[in-house]
Amino acid sequence: MTSTFRLGGAQLYGRDDNESWEAFEAAIGALEGGRALAFSSGMAAVTAVLECLPVGATVVVASDAYNGTRRWCADAARRGRLGVRLVDVADPTGVVAACEGAHLVWLESPTNPCLVVADLAAITAGAHRLGVTVVVDNTLATPLLQRPLAIGADIVVHSVTKWLAGHSDLVMGCAVTADPGRFDALRERRSLGGGIPGSVEAWLALRGVRTLPARLLRAQATAGELAARLGSHLAVERVRYPGLASDPGYAVARRQMDGPGAMVSIDVVGGAAPADRVCAAVEILTPATSLGGVETTIERRARYAFEEAVPPGLLRISVGQEDVEDLWEDLDRSLNRALSDPA
Ligand SMILES: Cc1ncc(COP(=O)(O)O)c(C=O)c1O
Repeated sequence: MTSTFRLGGAQLYGRDDNESWEAFEAAIGALEGGRALAFSSGMAAVTAVLECLPVGATVVVASDAYNGTRRWCADAARRGRLGVRLVDVADPTGVVAACEGAHLVWLESPTNPCLVVADLAAITAGAHRLGVTVVVDNTLATPLLQRPLAIGADIVVHSVTKWLAGHSDLVMGCAVTADPGRFDALRERRSLGGGIPGSVEAWLALRGVRTLPARLLRAQATAGELAARLGSHLAVERVRYPGLASDPGYAVARRQMDGPGAMVSIDVVGGAAPADRVCAAVEILTPATSLGGVETTIERRARYAFEEAVPPGLLRISVGQEDVEDLWEDLDRSLNRALSDPA
C-alpha cells in the first residue's frame, strides 16, 4: 500500500512497481507459461496490447469476441488508428486468409457469448507463417483449462475480474507473454498509460486464484449437467456448450482444452421476449452482466448495443457454486413460465 519507495531498491514508483501485483503476476505467469503484467481491468490489458501496434496497422478480430474488444477496434478504425477485419473464428482457413498483410490476429476461445471454439493451433501456425502476432483472450477458459502460449500464441489476455478473481468483487486484467521484447513493450504501455490495479485488488485476485481449481471444476461439472438437461427442454432451441458432443466446437475443445468450462449459452424458443421473461423469473440465478463469480449469472446479451450478431433470444449463463438441483429447478421453472406466458 504505497506510492513511494526508498530509492535504491527493486521498486521505483507506484505506477511502475508494486509487490502485490508482482505476487499475482508470478502466479499467472507460472500458470500461463510466460511473464504476466497486471492491469486495472481486462480492457486496460486489451488497450495496452493494441496500442503497441503502429498507427495504420491491420488487426483481424473474432467477429463475436467480447463486445468491449470489438468496440475498441471499431473506435480505433473510425479514428484511422487501425484497420479492422472481422472473422468467424470457427473457420481457421478463413481466419488465416484474412491475416494476409495484417499485423495481429485477436482470438477468443471459447468466445463470449456464443461459445464458439477457435482451433488455436491451426490459426496460430497459419498466422505465424504470415508474420502475424497472435493474441488469445483466455478469460473464459483460464489457464486451468487452456494454455494458449504453449499452443504457440504470442500474448494472452484476461479479464481477471471473471474466473481468476472469481468473487465478483473487483475489476482487474492482465496480459501474459513469453517474449521479452513484447513484455517490455507492454510494461512500458502500462507505465505510460497508467492502467494499473490497486494493490488490494491484486491481493484479492491472488487469493481468488488459489481456489480457481475448486471453483471452476465444480462449476464446470454443474455446467455439464445443466447443458445436458437444457438440451431436452421444450423452451430451448439450442444449447451452446463445447462439452456437448453435438456442439460444433466439441472436437477442437477436446483437443486443446482440459475441460469445456462453466459457461453455457442457450437460444430460447421465441427469441427476445421469452428470453427476457426467463431473466425476470429466475430466483436463484442472478440476472446480471459479468461472469465467472461464485453466483450463477444469466443475461440476454442482445439487449446491448454492439451485439447485433448475437441471436436475440440467446441467454448466457455463467455457472457458479450453487447446488445443481437448485439451479435446475430455477431454470426449468423460469423456462416453463417463458413458454406459457403470452408473448
Ligand atoms: C472475454 C472478455 N474479455 C475482456 C473483458 C473485459 O474485461 P474487464 O471488464 O475486466 O475490463 C471481458 C469483460 O466482460 C470479457 O468477458
